[in-house]
Amino acid sequence: ARRPLILAIESSCDETAAAVIDGEGALLSDVVASQVDFHARFGGVVPEIASRKHIESICGVCDDCLDRAAAALGRDGLRWRDLDAVAVTYAPGLVGALVVGVAFAKGAAWGADKPLIIVNHLEGHLYANKIGLPDFEPPAVVSLVSGGNTMLVYMADWGSYRVLGTTIDDAVGEAFDKVAKALGLGYPGGPVISKFAAEGDPEAIPFPRAMMHSGDLRFSLSGLKTAVVTYINGEREAGRELAVPDICASFEAAVVDVQVAKARTALQETGAPTFCLGGGVAANPMLRAAYEKMCAEEGVRLVMPPLASCGDNAGMIAEVALDRYRAGKFSTLDVDALAHGDL
Ligand code: KG4
Repeated sequence: ARRPLILAIESSCDETAAAVIDGEGALLSDVVASQVDFHARFGGVVPEIASRKHIESICGVCDDCLDRAAAALGRDGLRWRDLDAVAVTYAPGLVGALVVGVAFAKGAAWGADKPLIIVNHLEGHLYANKIGLPDFEPPAVVSLVSGGNTMLVYMADWGSYRVLGTTIDDAVGEAFDKVAKALGLGYPGGPVISKFAAEGDPEAIPFPRAMMHSGDLRFSLSGLKTAVVTYINGEREAGRELAVPDICASFEAAVVDVQVAKARTALQETGAPTFCLGGGVAANPMLRAAYEKMCAEEGVRLVMPPLASCGDNAGMIAEVALDRYRAGKFSTLDVDALAHGDL
């Protein structure tokens, strides 16, 4: 029998993405168009620009995605009516960005007379751990760290999640972006900070480890950000040249120490045999290395998404969609995009 084909769309922030997955879980195509260059000069994602860029890109991204899937199948082309379902991220995120993907997916599903599947973006990040590792199964503790989210999640099973703790203020990626801005390093901050950090001394400056001993699994990043910015301003006022690699390495070390300590506690408290990552910050080399060490010490299996699947992508949305398809869980066409949406 022919394998079912599902096209998934993701547009919750500043990437327009589409992916096609088949009924066996093979990702036939996985296309991401980043808008980061258009937001860079503003030092962060500008919601209005994000919406407009999604509108410009979405047709081309989906066409490209269908072409690549056709090539993977050895077929001349794929049309919308060759699909068995259309899936889309509907929450949480920038509502004006989400609504572009949701409206497009509804139109495609209606036009091709195929069922619509709606996916929570955060659940997508959990499923990203399946990409390239199809036999990966919960239970697991997942650390989700991105520009908009910072949380530890206990995944008892697919579809069964308990949020163990979140940030009470800024997200980790946001802290990277704000520190990079203060250093004049541009946007996004994560990749450039980690590059400088590799050359610096992580013990050069003792930045605070906020909430390290709070006795719970919550995080706080705004105090660290302020401490780093205050340090930078102090150095500038004193007329000293900024030791950028040391500042980056010391900032990263402060972030990593807290992330690792809380993840370790979460693993001990839940007894989960596996630890997973998700979100753009999960691409950070110092964080990944620290998790490798911690998981080895705890005797826990470490599963990390491929680097390209850490940040926003549609492959992870397609992975969720396939489970919904198998369970026959479809959405009506009156669904709305939502800015907020819990796991
Ligand atoms: O998941 P993601 O692509 O989407 C948003 O939530 O926006 O994450 C983007 C975030 C940005 O804040 C970026 O600075 C951060 O992930 N990031 C990193 C690294 N690469 C991206 N943070 C630390 N180290 C990195 N190597």
